[in-house]
Amino acid sequence: MASTSPFTVKWGIMATGWIAEMFTKDLLTNPVSRDVHDVRHEVVAAASSSAKDKAADFLAMVKAPSSANAYGSYHELVADPNVDIVYVATPHSHHFQNAMLALEAGKNVLCEKALTVTAAQTRKLVETAKSKGVFFMEAVWTRHFPLSIKVRELVSSGAIGNVYRVIADLSFNKDAADGKVDFADSHRMVNPDLAGGALLDLGIYSLTWVFQTLYHTQPEKDKEAPNVVAAVNKYHTGADETTSVITQFPKHKSMGIALTSLRVGTDVDGHNSGGAAIRIQGSGGEIQVMGPAYRPLQYKVIKKDGGGRIEVVDCPIPRDEERDWGHGMFWEADESARCLRDGKEESATLPWSESIVIMEVMEEVLKQGGVAYPELITTDVYDAQSPLNTGMR
Ligand SMILES: NC(=O)c1ccc[n+]([C@@H]2O[C@H](COP(=O)([O-])OP(=O)(O)OC[C@H]3O[C@@H](n4cnc5c(N)ncnc54)[C@H](OP(=O)(O)O)[C@@H]3O)[C@@H](O)[C@H]2O)c1
Repeated sequence: MASTSPFTVKWGIMATGWIAEMFTKDLLTNPVSRDVHDVRHEVVAAASSSAKDKAADFLAMVKAPSSANAYGSYHELVADPNVDIVYVATPHSHHFQNAMLALEAGKNVLCEKALTVTAAQTRKLVETAKSKGVFFMEAVWTRHFPLSIKVRELVSSGAIGNVYRVIADLSFNKDAADGKVDFADSHRMVNPDLAGGALLDLGIYSLTWVFQTLYHTQPEKDKEAPNVVAAVNKYHTGADETTSVITQFPKHKSMGIALTSLRVGTDVDGHNSGGAAIRIQGSGGEIQVMGPAYRPLQYKVIKKDGGGRIEVVDCPIPRDEERDWGHGMFWEADESARCLRDGKEESATLPWSESIVIMEVMEEVLKQGGVAYPELITTDVYDAQSPLNTGMR
């Protein structure tokens, strides 16, 4: 009889910041609490670029098993033979060098969004993963939500007819009285040295909705890279603060409008009174997704001939009651585990080719808007001793 014990994946966490905490706490939840029985996760190590104590404090804070190793460098983490897969949770300025470090060490990699700063860097990572024969995926958690899967199914099945337009917004009102935004100039959200700006941090989710409805749902042979027209308002640091992108898919006569801003919010008042963050508009109706675009919990289906009826579907995030936690990042971890179990190097939910096309779109937007980042973070030449890998600030 076949074994029914779940496939176990051993994770190493690279960096100890905010999203590393969210993700690692999700990894430590019991998969059964989300009705997952075929895979499970172990946190076996974490590394800080600056100090071993920081990694040890991180592991204690997330309540990882005491057997987990704490490292004071990323180099040590990727050399740990006990680590199956590295989760890269550094600022996106660092992703290329950090993910290369792990791939070159032969590790599987799940790397936070935005995957890189340039499309050439993404292509280099993909080539490296391919040549090393390891799994590699951009960590766009939203793609793996049951809500996203359901919406993609609705689009593919023609539930709202032919989808011609998608309008998606992820914006936060961080406007500050003095003409600035509510981030210090050194913060990664606005600091060009850390690839700051609304597009790479937030706008990628607006583009995720455009791509997972207008691009991902197409048969492979019909997928087309879009034409791109963008407008960018720059912050005084040089990063983009409000960016609007029109993507046009000529073969399908469809358009995606991806919006992002640090000046106005999708959620106007903190009570979601502003309406849908995403509108997927078809010839036979519309799907509305209630924000935020990265962690949506509800969608609505409105049919053209529905007589005013609105189908409202809630998709709450399951919680592990024992750990009192559940954020929604565990689904991308489950997908990574299944790919490892099945010997897959890329996930069908977010294939390499799609990450590349999205990165190309973002690069084009930044070019049109005149946003430029420093050479240290845009080079596609891997350097194991880059300050981005050795923790020099
Ligand atoms: N999926 C999501 O919902 C989501 C949400 C937020 C952020 N993100 C993505 O996750 C990444 C990290 O964001 P975050 O909010 O976690 O950032 P954060 O809180 O600033 O953490 C980043 C971590 O990276 C490490 N790091 C290494 N070099 C650094 C440098 N020069 N400056 C700052 N940090 C450095 C630090 O950890 P050590 O000192 O321990 O090495 C730091 O704690 C970004 O790419 C972001 O886009 C994703």
